[in-house]
Amino acid sequence: MNFYTRKWVKPEDLNPNGTLFGGTLLRWIDEEAVIYAIVQLGNPKVVTKFISEINFVSSAKQGDILELGIEAIHFGTTSLTMRCEVRNKISRKTILSIEKLVFVNLGEDGNPIPHGKDSITYAYTGIEKTGRDN
Ligand SMILES: CC(C)(COP(=O)(O)OP(=O)(O)OC[C@H]1O[C@@H](n2cnc3c(N)ncnc32)[C@H](O)[C@@H]1OP(=O)(O)O)[C@@H](O)C(=O)NCCC(=O)NCCS
Repeated sequence: MNFYTRKWVKPEDLNPNGTLFGGTLLRWIDEEAVIYAIVQLGNPKVVTKFISEINFVSSAKQGDILELGIEAIHFGTTSLTMRCEVRNKISRKTILSIEKLVFVNLGEDGNPIPHGKDSITYAYTGIEKTGRDN
């Protein structure tokens, strides 16, 4: 799994309980996942189709530094399925996990079209590899 993005929990990210608001975390994850899908599928027209159970494992507080991890687990015909984990960068404690996020590759007309991909692309090297990274 690649942990590309780090977030610093600020006052505007908190709920009335004084911990990280779940909606804020979900917005960060949806954005992280769509960027990952766009890079993997090579198409900016990608939409969120399905998000499975979301497990808020532990809370985060103001000042915490979080890292967002995404990993492609299945390349379908028009879809890409990923899993997600968010953890505290310092303690490595898991904050959240999602087993399945499905994004769909769209054509110009807004309908699903095959993306033609079957393995993870490492965008910065241009090297195509099969399987998992760290
Ligand atoms: C995305 C959308 C165009 C797909 O249309 P659709 O008629 O469901 O398309 P299909 O039935 O051809 O399914 C497309 C892919 O999604 C997968 N899929 C559909 N429903 C799914 C579900 N409930 N769970 C997991 N995958 C699903 C299909 O298996 C298919 O993948 P594959 O081609 O790799 O096998 C349509 O559902 C839509 O516009 N949804 C709203 C998207 C949106 O606004 N998202 C939030 C903002 S980004």
